[in-house]
Amino acid sequence: METITTFNKNTPREIIYESVLQQARSLIEAEKDLIATLANITSLLKHSFDFFWVGFYIAKKNELVLGPFQGTLACTRIPLGKGVCGTSFQKKESIVVGNVDFFPGHIACSSESKSEIVVPIIKNNEVQLILDIDSDKLNDFSKVDAKYLELLAKELKVLIPTYTSEA
Ligand code: SME
Repeated sequence: METITTFNKNTPREIIYESVLQQARSLIEAEKDLIATLANITSLLKHSFDFFWVGFYIAKKNELVLGPFQGTLACTRIPLGKGVCGTSFQKKESIVVGNVDFFPGHIACSSESKSEIVVPIIKNNEVQLILDIDSDKLNDFSKVDAKYLELLAKELKVLIPTYTSEA
């Protein structure tokens, strides 16, 4: 079993993301089971950046259902259009929230979460998965995070069986 590459705290995020992407590609190559690999990807992201919460929601009809994650307990179901995740699900686009207190309808799973980024994984023109990352620091995410997490989202598409959109 491989171990996660660790970096010095001052390493630019781009450098860490380049490594994370490489490690993610290896995980995806090694295991095609969706849940197993998503679980390892959450560990990879959480420990590479020391984020507060990293997880996936799985799109099932008009609802998001909690999938593999690392962090504190989370809401299990999010309706289309609700919160940051449900809005990303509806708009089919990434959302960066610098201060969750100013996002209308933000769903607070933990009071420690201060900023958030949500990236949809889209296949066959439908959102199949939502990647949600929470930070305990304000304004922790930028276009850099969106760029690399969207690249990761593209890599994850090969894991998605057709049943996720039908279940
Ligand atoms: N904050 C999210 C809910 C999910 S938790 O943060 C894990 C939202 O507003 O959609």
